[in-house]
Formats: sequence, structure tokens, C-alpha cells
Amino acid sequence: MSEQIDLAAVAKRIQQKTNNFQPKVAIILGSGLGAVTEAMQVEYVLDYQNIPGFDACTVAGHAGKLCFGLLSGVKAVCLQGRLHLYEGADTASLALMLRSLKQIGCETLLVTNAAGSLNTAVEPGHLLLINDHINFQGINPLVGRNDEAIGPRFPAMNNAYDSALQAIIRETAGNIGIELAEGVYIAVLGPGFETPAEIRAFRLMGADAVGMSTVPEVILAVHCGMRVAAISVITNLAAGLATNAPSHEETLATANKAAQQLSQLIINTVEQF
Ligand code: HPA
Repeated sequence: MSEQIDLAAVAKRIQQKTNNFQPKVAIILGSGLGAVTEAMQVEYVLDYQNIPGFDACTVAGHAGKLCFGLLSGVKAVCLQGRLHLYEGADTASLALMLRSLKQIGCETLLVTNAAGSLNTAVEPGHLLLINDHINFQGINPLVGRNDEAIGPRFPAMNNAYDSALQAIIRETAGNIGIELAEGVYIAVLGPGFETPAEIRAFRLMGADAVGMSTVPEVILAVHCGMRVAAISVITNLAAGLATNAPSHEETLATANKAAQQLSQLIINTVEQF
């Protein structure tokens, strides 16, 4: 079966199960950030398990659900849980997920994640607006045959993080009193955390935050023509910058605490997207 037939079938399945609800905005919620959906008037919930091609999520803190509803009056879909390459998820599943969002109407993708900070001035609990990325995962989700009907063979990544969306998020954060750092996100494959030497190298490369997600989703979304914005919740100082070693428990605990602020920011920006 070709990818396009799969994609059409998946999109149709989602549309059938949501009575043709057409979200404009898709929001991917990172580790411990599922609470953002509490701000949503949820109309339909689909388990990934019930959508062909959406692998079940295996990581604690990721529910594996699509929540469709209104967020500040805007039709949106929240993805509670994501596929990570370290889980062994193949990039074809990820591609299917992102492209089906576009197919059902999403023009904008807002990605959130939990990340380690490479800058000691940007402490755990803070939010960071991603303005660019470094793909250090050793893999690109567009490797393989390209379908020109979906996007170009060689997509430009100059404005991967849409500058107009960045401006909206920056200005809104200022208006509602949320301190928002800004910088470059470097994606590693994981699942092991980095060594202190790697973190020193990443700082020299120009990275401000490090994590194990987001970049494949952003590349796929840009490729199929979505506008993208991304916000990290800083859950820890990266390896070697704090006295303790990073852990997934710390990530979840800090993300849960910062989720409220992230929700506020999303609620106040989504209607301007
Ligand atoms: N490294 C990689 N991924 C992460 C980190 C980190 O320090 N914190 C949260 N996700």
C-alpha cells in the first residue's frame, strides 16, 4: 500500500470518529504537560491505539490520546503523548501522524517539550521559546521516497519556527507577565541523558536547550506546509551544570509544576494564530 493511501485512510478514520471536526491548530504536549487539555472544552477523545499507524505510547507521562475541542474558542487538537525515536518508533509512524493532522485541517502546529537548559541563567521551571534547532539525532524523518504531493524533496528550514508565530508568543508572554527565554534546541536521540562533555560541546555549537523530541515533528510539519511554533519547559539544568544528575522523575515533576504557566501562554496565544 502506498503512503498516500495509508494517509487518506487514517485521516478518514479520524474524521469519522470525530464527526468531521476540523481543528485548525494541533498541539503536541510533552512529558508531564498533558494538563494543558484541562483548559480545553473537549468534544472527542481518541486513543492512539484505535488509529491505525499511531503506535501506542510507551513512556510514563505520555497518555497516548488525541483530544479534540475548543481552546479559547479555536478548534484544536491536543496530542497527549508523542512518539520518540528512542522508543524504536519508526519515522513512518511519525510522518503518518503529522501528515494526518494536516490532512484533517491543521494549519498550525504548536510543539511543547521538556528540555534541559544549557544556560545556568535559565533555570528549571522556566519556559523557552525555540527559535531554531540543531538536529543531532543522526536521523532525518524525510529519508526515503518523497511524495511531491505532500511536500518538496528538499524543504528549506530557514523559517522552520515561524517568525510571525514567535512574535505573537513573545508579545503575549510579555503582556501576561510570563518570563520567556529564547534559544536554540538541540535534539539528541536518547534515551540516555548526555554526558557533561557532550553538554559542553553542545554549548559551543550554539545550543541553549537539549531534549529527545520535537525536531522530527517540526521537520515533518514544515515539509507538509504547516506553520510551526515550539516551546520548551525547562525541567533541569543539563548534565554537568547541576550537582545532581538529570532523571525522568525530575523531568515529570518540574514539567507538571510549569504546565500551568504553559497553559496560560497557550490559551492566550492560540486565538491569534
Ligand atoms: N536532556 C535530554 N532530554 C531532556 C533533558 C535533558 O537534560 N531534560 C528533559 N529532557
